Formats: sequence, C-alpha cells, structure tokens
Amino acid sequence: MSGPGVDRVFERLERLYAIGGGLGANRPEYSPEEDEAHELAAAWMEEAGLEVSRDGAGNLLGVRGEARVWTGSHLDSVPSGGRFDGALGVVAGIEAAERLAGTPLAVVAFRGEEVGCLGSRACCGGAGPLPAVFVELHVEQGPRLEQAGAALGVATGIVGYARREVRFEGRAGHAGTTPMDAREDALCAAAEFVLRVRRAAGGIEGAVATVGRLEVEPGGVNVIPGGVTLTVDARAPDEERLDRLLAALDLAREPRTPPVAFDEGVRRALAEEAARLGVEAVELPSGAGHDAGILAAAGVASGMLFVRSLAGGISHHPDEESSPEDIALAVDVLAATLNRLASSTRIDRV
Ligand code: GLV
Ligand code: MN
Ligand code: MN
Repeated sequence: MSGPGVDRVFERLERLYAIGGGLGANRPEYSPEEDEAHELAAAWMEEAGLEVSRDGAGNLLGVRGEARVWTGSHLDSVPSGGRFDGALGVVAGIEAAERLAGTPLAVVAFRGEEVGCLGSRACCGGAGPLPAVFVELHVEQGPRLEQAGAALGVATGIVGYARREVRFEGRAGHAGTTPMDAREDALCAAAEFVLRVRRAAGGIEGAVATVGRLEVEPGGVNVIPGGVTLTVDARAPDEERLDRLLAALDLAREPRTPPVAFDEGVRRALAEEAARLGVEAVELPSGAGHDAGILAAAGVASGMLFVRSLAGGISHHPDEESSPEDIALAVDVLAATLNRLASSTRIDRV
C-alpha cells in the first residue's frame, strides 16, 4: 500500500485511541465511547462510498451493492487496551473498501466483542443481515509471527472457551478484634481458588485460564472480606481439554463457545493473495476469541488474516504494537482477497 493509505489508517487508529482519554484504549461495550467510535467509523464509511446502517443490536454496517462478502471487526476495547485490537480490522476494512470502488462488499463494526462477542452473536441470531463470506483482519495478539519472522498469518481456527463467575461467601468482621482462628475470610478461599486455576490450566497442554476480575466486599481496609466474586476465563484447543479444565475447577460444562475451524476456501484465498504479493503467510491457530469465530460457527464461510504483533506479542495492553509496513501489506492482502471473493460466484470456486 502506498504511503497515504497507511498514514490514513494510522491517523484513524489514533483518533479512535484518543476517545475517552486515560491510559490506553477505553471503549467498553455499549458505552458512549464505543458509540463515539461508531460515529467516527460511520463517517469514514460514507467517505468510502458505503451506505451506512445499524442493525437491531447496534452493529454498524457500511454496504456497497449486493454485498455477499463482508469484512470488519469490533470497536469496543478492554479497559486500558491497545490501539489495534478490533479497531484495525474496521479501519483497514474501510481502507480496502475505498480502494475497491465499485466492488460490492460490506464493512461491519460489531458491538461488544470483548465481553462475549455480543454483536456478532446477535447478528447470527437474527438481529441483522448475514453475509455468505466474512474476512476479519486482526493483530495476532501473540508472539508467534514475530518469532517466525513472518509479517502475516492466516488463522486455522479459534480455541474453545468458557467464562464463569464464581462466588465465595465468608463473614465480614472487625480486622483488629477478630482472632485469626475465628475468621471466615472469603478472600482467602478465593485466593486458593485463583492458584488452583493456574495449576489446572498449567497441567493441560495448550490450555490457559485466567482470573481477570475480583470484587471484594465490603472492601474496607479494616474489614475482613465477607464476600468475593471473581471471573474465570478458561480456554483449550479442543472440547476434550476444555471439559477436563472445567471439571478440574468444578465449573459447569456449559455454556461454552466451542472451538471452530475457519473455511478452507477463505484460508486458501488469503494465503494465495499473500503469496501473489510476495509474502508467505504462516498458518496458526488463534488463542483469542473473535467475531469471525462466531460467524464461522453460524455457517458463514469465514477466515482471518493476522498481522504480526511486536514487542513479544503483548495485547490487551497499551503497549500493543504492529508496524506500518506490516499493516500496509495486510491491507493489500485484505483488499486483494475481498476482491477475489467478491468476484467469484461460489465460495467453493475461490
Ligand atoms: C478477545 O479479545 C478475547 O478475549 O479473546
Ligand atoms: Mn479483538
Ligand atoms: Mn481483545
């Protein structure tokens, strides 16, 4: 991609990153900050010649013609997130659409990806129209491409994952007058569970699990914790390992988001278009959840192009980084792939 294109992508990413202020990206699901990001993206979509609409879940759609090929990602962020996660897929999609003037396609910004892919699930559940084909460009959010010395990757699929809330009940009391052997400290029980989560995932190849949020009640500096609510995010490459992980933590098997494989035709189109542009895209599974996984599970032919994450692959953190050169290449491959998919009449012929 020529200079102005990638400059515009970075300028737009900076504008999204600045919304709300504070450290890193702060655009929670269905917040005024996410709304503001959607408003900005809607204006950029219109500039790119797309017709803007919103579905019943608040997902933003920019459509040109009879679009059976969609691209895009999400504009919400984790607290203190990075500038690329989600935003890159939307901004790059708009850039590709601008470049492919006249080609029928759509760019979507799904709502609430970070909290269980709310928008894409609603879309698959009938809140809006669905495409035949979906291609999502995203930063890798891990170290593999950097380690392999590869600018781009094609995702093979997404791990299975489950999220749970766990409650620990104790009894609040005076921190100074209650003897140690007379306490029911909910935080001590929760702390043991947190370490159990770490051990359980560490014992299963390819599994990971995280306690990312913990609320202590009543939260007084001089009060024994009477209650704790924490979250568990558990992931594994296949159903059997996810079962084992949940069982090891005495957590329910359901609900879960099962592992999903991406469409062979879309994967091939991405790899071949990358090769045509002189880049070998490495195949790799995704440990992160994505809207493309939700669409794939709903039967949409879906695939993902990953851009190399730098700085050891750090993500969900303000230090998230990718280079302008890699992003320029990714937008080239995305545009070429969308063009190819949009001009093929049947997905099995791509
Ligand atoms: C999405 O970022 C996830 O949690 O995998
Ligand atoms: Mn994301
Ligand atoms: Mn994320």
